[in-house]
Amino acid sequence: MTATVPESPAEVTDERQDTAQRLLRSSAELSFDPATQVDWDTPLDRTHHGMSPEWSSLYGTAYWNELTEEQRAELTRQESASVASTGIWFEMILQQLVLRDFYAKDPTDPAFQWALTEIADECRHSIMFARGSAKLGAPAYVPKRHVVALGRFCALTYSGEAAYASILVAEEVLDVMQRDWMRDERVAPFVRTINNIHVVEESRHMRFAREETRERLRAAGPARRRVQALLVAAAAYHIVSSMWNEQVYANAGLDTQRALREARGNEHHKALLRSSCAGLMEFLSSCGLLTKPALWFYRRANLI
Ligand SMILES: [Fe+2]
Ligand SMILES: [Fe+2]
Repeated sequence: MTATVPESPAEVTDERQDTAQRLLRSSAELSFDPATQVDWDTPLDRTHHGMSPEWSSLYGTAYWNELTEEQRAELTRQESASVASTGIWFEMILQQLVLRDFYAKDPTDPAFQWALTEIADECRHSIMFARGSAKLGAPAYVPKRHVVALGRFCALTYSGEAAYASILVAEEVLDVMQRDWMRDERVAPFVRTINNIHVVEESRHMRFAREETRERLRAAGPARRRVQALLVAAAAYHIVSSMWNEQVYANAGLDTQRALREARGNEHHKALLRSSCAGLMEFLSSCGLLTKPALWFYRRANLI
């Protein structure tokens, strides 16, 4: 995949504005209102899964083979809510990052207007995920306390390429799994609609995050690139490792200790994550963000 590299600052500005204009037009043509477009009223059918079973942290383990179909469906519903709750947590960080980035900038710039459009999307997404989790019968799945503190630090301090590449990582990882779930007839219809809405609207966000990451890195020297690469990788590690909350097993009526042990050794799940992040890793590599210390985090998170 080769992108045309603009030569002058004026060309860069033009290209950036063109992209933002296109994203704004696309958003005007196809955006959703989850409050009215998701079926919130039909009661939950307990035979339905919350995510494609293959995405369960236990799929492929001995424990999974022992579970009844009802237990598997309950587990994937809790896991789906856990992923959605982590999504809400990250979207709240993301909104702060983008808001801080565009604070007091030129409001006539299409990129400024796009940024506010994206924040509005994320705000609707978080409400949608919150209602979806409640409908799945799940409690609040909040990341571990130290991760919540790190998230607050990230929201207050990350800027430029570190902010946009971290946003991209969270969006890409969610995107790959949600593309599977939205097409899967075993998944509850309202969850499929939620995923469909998210996939469509996030494809624009990812486009913007990729462009901003490349754009902000243009002026970065090797030292800054190395520091930013590490910040992005640390964020990626904490986002991905928070997606499957340890409480999901107890809430699905399973033995937490055994489930955690088998989930941690689940090579199927790790391989699924790795294969789904291949495109993302290729992009980070093309930006020079896959430094050695960064790779350590991506390996630990099973993203590479
Ligand atoms: Fe979102
Ligand atoms: Fe997004």
